[in-house]
Amino acid sequence: MATAPRILLYRSDGRTAEWGAAFANAYPQAQCVTWTGGAADCDYAVIWAPPAALVTALQDVKAIFLMGAGVDAILQFGAALPPAPIIRLGDAGMGLQMAEYVLHAVLRYFRRFDEYDRQLRLGVWKPLAPHAREDFTVGVLGLGQLGTRVIDALRPFGFPLRGWSRSSKTIEGVDCFGGIAQLDDFLRGTRILICLLPLTPDTDHLLGRARLSLLAQGGFVVNVARGAHLDDNALLALIREGHLAGATLDVFRAEPLPLDHAFWGEPRVTITPHISALTIVDEAVRQIAGKMHALARGETVADVVDRTRGY
Ligand code: NDP
Ligand code: OXD
Repeated sequence: MATAPRILLYRSDGRTAEWGAAFANAYPQAQCVTWTGGAADCDYAVIWAPPAALVTALQDVKAIFLMGAGVDAILQFGAALPPAPIIRLGDAGMGLQMAEYVLHAVLRYFRRFDEYDRQLRLGVWKPLAPHAREDFTVGVLGLGQLGTRVIDALRPFGFPLRGWSRSSKTIEGVDCFGGIAQLDDFLRGTRILICLLPLTPDTDHLLGRARLSLLAQGGFVVNVARGAHLDDNALLALIREGHLAGATLDVFRAEPLPLDHAFWGEPRVTITPHISALTIVDEAVRQIAGKMHALARGETVADVVDRTRGY
């Protein structure tokens, strides 16, 4: 491999300048280029949410690096994808942010801070009875890089913990459930449900009314994965009927969330604009440049997407 690889940078929002600057620091020999249409003249692509025409243009690249952790936006192209390995970001500072976000949502509900917020706006001074910790089973859907980080962050607080993944796992202090056959048992009795699954054909629309109804009375949903996991209308109905207490949602079927969406008008739903774990560009570029060097030496690298599994 030439010592000065050409790296094509693309983001659907056009914000590639800071990526170029970070590569200039982390890999000064490399030349960053942009896509101008047609076949891409580059060794590697570093991209996020590409259009179909760019995916087709990448047939001859040596590897495709993603600027984030989720892979659904690229795997949707299925058979049109180039043969090159697709490599997602591995944590790169996202695990800690995800842990902060989820802990905040869990503690805000458990310690009734959302209710105190409402009280203070009405000038009400009224201590509320504490919730019982043993009634707050926290269940994490997805025990991968981010899900396990979140579990570790929750541990010191003493909530009963459970997790669900595709394969069976043993994690100390966590009731582990594996596969679709054990999903209902996982949901039954879970009080706070954290979704950290990849979006695949198996997890698309996983959380509809029937499954959400299995959560404990006063259940709470935190979705930080993808909007398409969740049936929005079912969630809202269960909140308004009083079975669920609320939700904290960072991801939506359409982003930005359309202004006429009913979530905006529901005070028990907290909305954030897909910020639970942001890509830290310098850290991401250091990781990607390291993997480019490893590939050039003929080594294997972590975080290669398994196209058959879908994540
Ligand atoms: P990983 O690929 O590391 O982990 C995925 C986990 O989900 C694994 O435990 C896997 O099981 C489990 N899983 C996958 N399919 C199924 C299934 N059909 N049934 C049960 N379990 C399943 O992903 P990450 O933890 O890194 O990230 C998770 C998702 O978080 C990303 O795909 C992305 O969509 C989202 N994300 C959101 C961000 C945000 O800002 N909101 C930022 C970054 C990521 P097993 O262990 O058995 O393989
Ligand atoms: C994501 C990401 O997958 O931002 O949402 O990495």
